[in-house]
Amino acid sequence: MPDIKDPKLAPGGRERIEWAAGEMQVLAQIRERFEKERPLQGVRIAACLHVTTETANLMETLAAGGAQVLLAASNPLSTQDDVAAALTEQSGIETFAIKGEDNDTYYKHLNAVIDLSPQITMDDGADLVNVLHTRRADRLEHVLGGTEETTTGVIRLRAMAADGALAYPIVSVNDADTKHLFDNRFGTGQSTMDAVMRSTNRLIAGRTVVVAGYGMCGRGVTSRARGLGAHVVVTEVDPTAALEALMEGYRVMPIREAARIGDIFITVTGDTSVIRPEHMELMKDGAIMANSGHFDVEIDKVGLRALATGGVRTIRDYVEEFTMADGRRLHLLGEGRLVNLAAAEGHPAAVMDMSFADQALSVEWVVKNAATLEKKVYPVPVEIDKEVARLKLRAMAVDIDSLTDEQERYLHSWDQGT
Ligand SMILES: NC(=O)c1ccc[n+]([C@@H]2O[C@H](COP(=O)([O-])OP(=O)(O)OC[C@H]3O[C@@H](n4cnc5c(N)ncnc54)[C@H](O)[C@@H]3O)[C@@H](O)[C@H]2O)c1
Repeated sequence: MPDIKDPKLAPGGRERIEWAAGEMQVLAQIRERFEKERPLQGVRIAACLHVTTETANLMETLAAGGAQVLLAASNPLSTQDDVAAALTEQSGIETFAIKGEDNDTYYKHLNAVIDLSPQITMDDGADLVNVLHTRRADRLEHVLGGTEETTTGVIRLRAMAADGALAYPIVSVNDADTKHLFDNRFGTGQSTMDAVMRSTNRLIAGRTVVVAGYGMCGRGVTSRARGLGAHVVVTEVDPTAALEALMEGYRVMPIREAARIGDIFITVTGDTSVIRPEHMELMKDGAIMANSGHFDVEIDKVGLRALATGGVRTIRDYVEEFTMADGRRLHLLGEGRLVNLAAAEGHPAAVMDMSFADQALSVEWVVKNAATLEKKVYPVPVEIDKEVARLKLRAMAVDIDSLTDEQERYLHSWDQGT
């Protein structure tokens, strides 16, 4: 039995799914082909993804290819309840997700999709894979392979593979150029700033925005914050990333220095305990903290609560106010969970079009090649990556040049020089 908030939300969810579909032309082309060819006929898929309008379009594409799909949330706060209702009530895709579900319900939902005895797993953060390998190993025998959406999930899977613990092949969708160069950067950049603005309605111009982590997501968040007129400070632990941020024109400093000057702090590191009580002690009255990294461990929430001897209250939707012993008020957005999904709607559909095209084509590739794949993490095949870029350009009505025969020869030669 699916588990959603309210089936009556389905019609509203359907309209929003259609609105997203208007920006997902690459996925639409794949769906058309899947409808004809049915490459996933009878394949059982358990998906653990953010339940958003874009994910709904992916789920319906897989179903159009003949798959039986069950969907659970990949984060307790990222579910769009109207989308869960539309998928369950109208598309035959049973969904197990309720926005704000507690930890037990979150894991109950993961177990529910594992009950399907999936042949394919689709994960975002590797929680599904983790449960399957640790607590539900009895269901591993049917699995042909899987896909993983995000940086943090891929890190966990690589660690499993290195330990010899990974029981089936998984495609790292995050590593496709058409995924991380666009989704992590432009998607996280725009939707994270959108979430900060929606939830706080604060002016960004003239404020100091501290971004912890200058990876793919950090590049996106910093450039969007700068575009809004913020003074942007970057904190890093990697010297090359720090240097790149510096030469891009951002100020770079340790978090303990940034803590004193920041108005808004955004973590996107995939790391733990990046902002700790010792930093919160230094922050200005009114400072705002948000996280857009995968897990809610980047800002030490437990430490923050312990400092708040003056009380904690929810002052606006998705804004908790913590009052320190000295009267300073610090604010945490979206419980420190992925703020762009908790307090906004996640990445715009146009960018998820590419990530989810990679997902759909990777699932097809795994099903086709399952017999020869090893128990390791595979990159998205380069032909898929290039095809997604080609289709996206076409959808955006942009032509590019192609190599002439002479250029082709030149670029593959070694004997022509000065
Ligand atoms: N919010 C979203 O919708 C969304 C989308 C994509 C990825 N993600 C998640 O965001 C996180 C970052 O992803 P990415 O693709 O940018 O990863 P990345 O590996 O490209 O970048 C992470 C950066 O953080 C730095 N870092 C690590 N520890 C740090 C610390 N203590 N202080 C400062 N910097 C530190 C690393 O050196 C690295 O440069 C991951 O958890 C990923 O899963 C979220």
